[in-house]
Amino acid sequence: MAAGAAYPTGSLLAPVTLAAVHLLTIGWLTLLVFGALHQFVPVIAARSQATGWPALLSLLVIVVGLAGMEAGFLALADLLAPRAIPLLPAGGTLVLAGAALAAAPIARTLWSARPLAFSARFASLGLVFLLATLGLGLTFALALAFSETIQWAAMPTDGLRLHVLSGLLGWFTLTAMGVSYRLLSMFTLAPEERGALGSAVLWLSAGGLAAAWLLGAMEASGLAVPAALSTLAYVALALGGALYLFDMGRMLRARRRPKLELNAAGAIVALAAFSLCLLGAVLATITGRLQEMAGPLGYLFVFGWLSGLGLSQLYKIVPFITWLERYGALLGKQPVPRVQDLVDERRDRPWFVLYFVAVGAGTLCAALGSTLEWRIAIGGHLLATLMIARALWLARSGKPRLVQPRPTAIGGSRSLPTTGS
Ligand code: HEM
Repeated sequence: MAAGAAYPTGSLLAPVTLAAVHLLTIGWLTLLVFGALHQFVPVIAARSQATGWPALLSLLVIVVGLAGMEAGFLALADLLAPRAIPLLPAGGTLVLAGAALAAAPIARTLWSARPLAFSARFASLGLVFLLATLGLGLTFALALAFSETIQWAAMPTDGLRLHVLSGLLGWFTLTAMGVSYRLLSMFTLAPEERGALGSAVLWLSAGGLAAAWLLGAMEASGLAVPAALSTLAYVALALGGALYLFDMGRMLRARRRPKLELNAAGAIVALAAFSLCLLGAVLATITGRLQEMAGPLGYLFVFGWLSGLGLSQLYKIVPFITWLERYGALLGKQPVPRVQDLVDERRDRPWFVLYFVAVGAGTLCAALGSTLEWRIAIGGHLLATLMIARALWLARSGKPRLVQPRPTAIGGSRSLPTTGS
């Protein structure tokens, strides 16, 4: 994007843009969400770790499949020989197989833990939408590779809308809602029980999305659907999103950890980006400018909301998992550092600030149609991402920042981390 190969320089549906979109949605976000689910579904469901070799195998299969898809998209862009086009559906099939391998143990764990905990309900619905997304993507890919009659421009827009709805909202956002309810309550020491408001969030967002998706599918197959019904489904969906944001605000206000760590502060900015996306989508729909605003809103959604939340939560999860591996067994036997000693918030805060400022500036430039300025902002956003990735790498491989001995939980005055202190 920054170099001008994909959107915003090219069109949203140009094959190179599609290559970039799937690097992001499969290579970054889907792998990230599976990583989060492998770690947290057993915790959410109060079951022992369910994954093992299927998780590793699925990672390999998805990565190889994605490489095939990328080659197929590049062949459609004439950057590779046309004989590579069938790699698009072949790669998509591998991605579907890899996702099924990853999803199976997660689904099994969820199934064994019925009735499901509140946050686990979002995760299970997310998995259903993932299957719908992959199935539709594969159908497009087969049509593109093997049907001479279907051209890019003639690809049914309803089908694409369903693919995007189930992927960005169903798979990513429903799962992010469930994981964020669990993680933010855990990391900020806030009550996880959400009561009637939480149920309203689940029913409106998942129910509205499922209704919008099914009505869209009926329309795409030529059935007449009353416009009022579709509008109602989208209104329920938007209301579910708005109530979720309200509930997260309520949860954060009720937290028992007064000082917000960098990961929680980042999550709040990501939630603000989600609010702006929701507001922008509603306004653009009312004014009939949704098509025109799809690029800027999609950018803010993928980078501000989904990636912003993902990066900020990784900033806690990576040190937390590293801490458990390195010091979990030593707890109570010798002094150990805190989880937060594995990162340096002072060093890394400016990169998170640059990340969100660049994404905000990029969205503004995009909305104003200033492509060059947008690309410059994407450059800043890229630099910040690399520096955050470096911070995560250092959390895993570096030495803890504070190495002076601390009193242990046993006999010590200061308590040591249990779940994410
Ligand atoms: C989690 C999985 C996926 C997500 C979130 C996702 C997301 C998206 C998005 C957002 C677009 C619109 C791109 C744009 O307008 O620039 C798109 C288009 C497309 N996707 Fe996916 N995708 C996923 C998986 C797949 C898979 C496995 C395939 C199969 C190869 C696939 C094939 C396609 C194709 C061919 C298009 C273009 C359709 C058209 O031009 O009408 N997708 N996808």
